[in-house]
Amino acid sequence: MEMKFILLAVVALVGIVCEVNGEACCTPDQWQGVQASVSGFVYRHKPGRVEGVVYVFYDYANKQSAAFANYTSSSAKPRSYRIVTRYSNKTCASCSSGKLYVVDLKTDKCYTKKLDRPFRKACIPDSAKDTGSFSLGAGDASLKTRGYNLELRSQKYQLDFKLSVTEEGCIPVSELVTGVARGVPFMETVGFVNIKPGIKDPAVFDVPEECEETVPGFIQQALDREYSVFSF
Ligand SMILES: *[C@@H]1O[C@H](CO)[C@@H](O)[C@H](O)[C@H]1NC(C)=O
Ligand SMILES: *[C@@H]1O[C@H](CO)[C@@H](O)[C@H](O)[C@H]1NC(C)=O
Repeated sequence: MEMKFILLAVVALVGIVCEVNGEACCTPDQWQGVQASVSGFVYRHKPGRVEGVVYVFYDYANKQSAAFANYTSSSAKPRSYRIVTRYSNKTCASCSSGKLYVVDLKTDKCYTKKLDRPFRKACIPDSAKDTGSFSLGAGDASLKTRGYNLELRSQKYQLDFKLSVTEEGCIPVSELVTGVARGVPFMETVGFVNIKPGIKDPAVFDVPEECEETVPGFIQQALDREYSVFSF
């Protein structure tokens, strides 16, 4: 009898704690901004480095995302892409099919890929470990942020994430990823700047004109980003 009561009390307490802290950290449903990244990797025994500046557009309300990306690398010519992700059912991504469109803006060629994953809601996953709050800047010009650590272990990915978001609003601030993705050891640091709520011009999510004709081809995993939390 006593044991039962204690169990009930514990369950009730856990329930309350969950309700207080239970609000998951997810970004607003619609926002746009700039994602700047530097990554280093080793591919076929050769080290490489890529820097990226990406204008990103996130629309969870309609299960779509878009990005305009410029990449410069240590070993290849600068590359520019327009990337769009769309789902056929805008209210239910998990019960509809998704498609990734990648336009190489240097050649105007379009590559597509069917996505067998639901639209990725930009949230700190439940499995992440809260590492506490801290502030950026100082005094009146300071920003309260919170850090999280996350481990991803699957057949294709062995990755460690260090994420930070603003304490108010869960706006992404930074994402640091180290580990191995599909056999490629790499490290990437991503900073999110000039984020604005809402989407100014929804036309960014249109299927690119270039994609009326698609060419068969391989979409690099860096553009597909199956694994990331906030970055595009
Ligand atoms: C990419 O480079 C082009 C050409 O310099 C520029 O017009 C465009 O704004 C750049 N886009 C990004 C996302 O930096
Ligand atoms: C999208 O999915 C929802 C939930 O399953 C369903 O109610 C709705 O009819 C679907 N819409 C379309 C256009 O298929």
